[in-house]
Amino acid sequence: MSVGSSNARTYLDRSDARPVDPVLLPLRDAEFTTTTLGGIFSALHDAGPDSWGRFLIERLYGPQRELGYLLLAAGERTGTLDFSMARETSPPESRVLNGIEELAHAARAVRAAEGNGEIPQEFVQLLACGTSNGGARPKFTLFHQGELWIAKLPSGKDFLQYPSMPLRECAALDLAARCGIEVPEHHLVDARGVPALLVRRFDRRGRERLPYASARTVAWSNPEVMRYSYMASYTGLSQELARWIRNPTEDRRSLYERIVFNAATGNGDDHDANHGLVLDRPEYGYRLAPLFDPVASTDLPAKDLAMAFGEDGRRISSHNLLSRPGQFGLDREHAEDLLKRIGATVARCWRETLLTLGADQRQVDRLASWFAFADKLAGTESNP
Ligand SMILES: Nc1ncnc2c1ncn2[C@@H]1O[C@H](COP(=O)(O)OP(=O)(O)OP(=O)(O)O)[C@@H](O)[C@H]1O
Ligand SMILES: [Mg+2]
Repeated sequence: MSVGSSNARTYLDRSDARPVDPVLLPLRDAEFTTTTLGGIFSALHDAGPDSWGRFLIERLYGPQRELGYLLLAAGERTGTLDFSMARETSPPESRVLNGIEELAHAARAVRAAEGNGEIPQEFVQLLACGTSNGGARPKFTLFHQGELWIAKLPSGKDFLQYPSMPLRECAALDLAARCGIEVPEHHLVDARGVPALLVRRFDRRGRERLPYASARTVAWSNPEVMRYSYMASYTGLSQELARWIRNPTEDRRSLYERIVFNAATGNGDDHDANHGLVLDRPEYGYRLAPLFDPVASTDLPAKDLAMAFGEDGRRISSHNLLSRPGQFGLDREHAEDLLKRIGATVARCWRETLLTLGADQRQVDRLASWFAFADKLAGTESNP
C-alpha cells in the first residue's frame, strides 16, 4: 500500500489510516490470511485485473501464479491500492493511454491480441496499459481532456447483428440516467473508425485516488456469507451495506432501482463485480458507486438476473420484483411505482436513445426482445 507523503513509518501510524476492508481486514498489527479466491482477499482483487487484464498478461508474459497477475498489472489500478513484493520496493509506475490517437492504436493492438499470432513489438507497451483494468471486455484507462476515463472498445467476439457494444453500453447508460439512476459522465468517441465508449473514472478526483470496494468484497466480507453461500445476492448485499455505509437507506433504494432497470433492459450481467462502493465524500463514508457496465455481451436477453433479489431467486418477473421490496427499504406501493416508472421510461425511450447515438435502424429492431419486459413493467398493476 502506498504511504504517500506522510512521515509515518507504517501505514498503521498514519492519522488518516483507513482499513482496506473494514470487516475482514480491520486496522490491526496482525497477519491476515484467507483460503478463498485463490488466497487473496477480495478487496485486493478489486485493485487487480480480471479476465481482460489476465488475458493480456498471459499474452504478453505467459501464465502466472495468482500473485503474478496482481504484480504484473501495470495500468492505472482501481481504487487506492498498488502492489510490490517488498516494503522497500516501490510499485511500478502506472501508465495510461494518452489521447484518442493512442486509443486508436490500442484498438489495433486489441485485434492483434485477440488473434492467434505473436503480438507485434509496437503493441506491447500499449497493451500493458490495459493489464490492470477489471472486467472481461477490451478496455484501457485513457487520459483525455485532463481527466481519466475507462475507454471500452469492441471485441472481435461481439455479435454483429446488433449495434456495437460501446454504442449499446452508451445507450444503456443514457437510458439509466433518464430513469433517474446515477451514472458516470460518458460519451462515444471515434478512434479512427473504431467506436469507443469513454466512461469517466469515478474512483479518481483529479490526481486523487478514491477508495473502491466491489459488491463482491462487501458481500463476502461477512464470514457467514463465505461459509454458507456460493454467490452474492442483492438481498444479502443490501444487508451487508450496513457494515460499510453509515446510513445505507438511500443506497438500498438505489440498489433496488438497478435491479428493476436490469430487468427492464434484459441485462443479466449484473454480477457482484458490476456493482461497487466508492468513498468520494469522506464525511459520509462509502456509498454506492454510480451505475456502470449495464449491458451483457450475450446474444439473447436474460431471463434471470445474476444475483437473487426475491422469493423466486434471480427470476425476472413482476411477481419476483415485488416479492421483497422491504429488503431494500421500500413498501409495496413505492416498489410498484418504481416498476411502472422505470418500465415506462425504458419502453418509451430505448429506440430513440439508440438511434440518436447513430445506431442502424435494422440492428436496433433486432434488440426489441431485450426491452419487452419493460412494456410489462409499465403496466404492472394489471400484470403482477
Ligand atoms: N467509471 C468507472 N470508474 C472507475 N472504475 C470503473 C468504472 N467503470 C468500471 N470500473 C471498474 O472496472 C471494472 C471493469 O469495468 P466493466 O465492468 O465496465 O468492464 P466489462 O469488461 O464490461 O465487465 P464484465 O466482465 O462484467 O462484462 C469494474 O468491475 C470496475 O471495478
Ligand atoms: Mg463488468
